Amino acid sequence: MAVKAPWLGFLFLVSLWGLSSPALLLRRLREHIQKSQESSSLHLGIGLSQGPAAVPKQGWLEQPLDPFNASDRRTFLQRYWVNDQHRAGQDAPVFLHIGGEGSLGPGSVMAGHPAALAPALGALVISLEHRFYGLSMPAGGLDMAQLHYLSSRHALADVASALQALSRLLNVSSSSPWICFGGSYAGSLATWTRLKFPHLVFAAVASSAPLRAVVDFAAYNRVVARSLTRAAIGGSQQCLAAASAAFAEVERLLRSGPASQAVLREELGACGSLHLTEDQAELLGALQALVGGAVQYDGQAGAPLSVRQLCGLLLGNGGNGSHSTPYLGLRRAAQIVLRSMGQKCLSFSRAETVAQLRNTAPQVSGVGDRQWLYQTCTEFGFYVTCESPQCPFTQLPALPFQLELCEQVFGISAASVAQAVAQTNSYYGGQTPGASQVLFVNGDTDPWHVLSVTQNLGPSEPVLLIPSASHCLDMAPTRPSDSPSLCLGRQRIFQQLQVWLKEIKKS
Ligand SMILES: *[C@@H]1O[C@H](CO)[C@@H](O)[C@H](O)[C@H]1NC(C)=O
Ligand SMILES: *[C@@H]1O[C@H](CO)[C@@H](O)[C@H](O)[C@H]1NC(C)=O
Ligand SMILES: *[C@@H]1O[C@H](CO)[C@@H](O)[C@H](O)[C@H]1NC(C)=O
Repeated sequence: MAVKAPWLGFLFLVSLWGLSSPALLLRRLREHIQKSQESSSLHLGIGLSQGPAAVPKQGWLEQPLDPFNASDRRTFLQRYWVNDQHRAGQDAPVFLHIGGEGSLGPGSVMAGHPAALAPALGALVISLEHRFYGLSMPAGGLDMAQLHYLSSRHALADVASALQALSRLLNVSSSSPWICFGGSYAGSLATWTRLKFPHLVFAAVASSAPLRAVVDFAAYNRVVARSLTRAAIGGSQQCLAAASAAFAEVERLLRSGPASQAVLREELGACGSLHLTEDQAELLGALQALVGGAVQYDGQAGAPLSVRQLCGLLLGNGGNGSHSTPYLGLRRAAQIVLRSMGQKCLSFSRAETVAQLRNTAPQVSGVGDRQWLYQTCTEFGFYVTCESPQCPFTQLPALPFQLELCEQVFGISAASVAQAVAQTNSYYGGQTPGASQVLFVNGDTDPWHVLSVTQNLGPSEPVLLIPSASHCLDMAPTRPSDSPSLCLGRQRIFQQLQVWLKEIKKS
């Protein structure tokens, strides 16, 4: 059992791991999963290799801080990784794994796509960390003047110049086709590299790419609800009903005065008190993110809770049987997630979230919360809400509450967020980007797939919607437990690349 002590004093020590806002909880989960996948893939890579020479190489590129102003001579160092184990010659294809809103480790070129596809296609594998994340950090920290140089457009300019510099450095022939890969936000970047630089990038594979920016991402929780009913991953109508009931009970306790709030706090293993309405909204959001996280990362190595396990708990099949209630199941689920992520208590203090996000010192661990919040405020939105009556959980969090963070942390108004999101969609084309030779891969239980391309736009923009697959699952290292539909999906990605590469040989 997890320790349920409200150790307020320790809160700040573990603040880096604070689960304060719902979005942060999802990001922590993602990091947790990425780390576990990376470490397993590294063991695999080193185990298979002949010696230290095969271990991926790390390198640094000097890139302009402002690629759009030639008189600005400031630069920063951008990190990349290379795996040349499978390279079949100087004109072999190059698979460029594009980094997103987090650091990239050696696992990025050793396992998962594109590394898994490299041996059969003789490809050179390179990954490029995104500016302002991980160790690719310009000098000067994360204050507003610096963040001015953080956007997807800057990231794309980095890819274009890195591609040219790496071609020289690694002796890549001018006839080598470059294929960009990426998952989630980086999947959008992969799409956009092909869209904006078709003379440099031959094709792209975009996994779970949320191509349409949206301020109010209410659809997230609608997909979560639907996925909780999917029998193939262990869901059912009863499971969804139990989830709703559990949230109704949390809400009832929250509204029943200080005594019940204290009980709730104790029972959920919450770090702080629940007096403030803003903290109550954060708590509800954090619990939703916990359920959303189980759906988003269902079936992935390192995910603390699958949909099947969560439904088992909510329906009382997870231990104490007949005495259980949906609320007890949700409590238990929260404990499991907290414990597996090494957390002492469930944190949901709004004030603390804001304080953390205002910190302009780059975090040593490579976590990019402030940077990513900035990108959501200035480009993408993506605020998960639960205001509509179709949301099965609670009527919180609400959009204004989410948007307030942009104002509180960066002084960016709700109106400018809306404007920025509209600009992003007109600049990139949203869900109809018009980029050729891009394969859009999604999982149909992933809450993000509704922002991606899931309908065929034409023969050169094929789509692959993998049944019962979660967020970026196709990119994860293969496992014996992978479903037949996932294996088939991965095979189709391979076949598509084969087709494209054959066409280039002909011409
Ligand atoms: C371009 O860079 C120069 C040199 O740093 C600076 O003086 C100028 O204001 C910049 N121009 C723009 C449009 O940012
Ligand atoms: C690059 O290719 C040239 C010509 O094939 C070769 O002589 C040279 O050694 C190569 N350099 C590297 C770093 O591989
Ligand atoms: C099972 O029930 C007992 C008594 O009701 C309780 O002490 C224990 O913590 C419960 N175990 C789980 C796993 O919920």
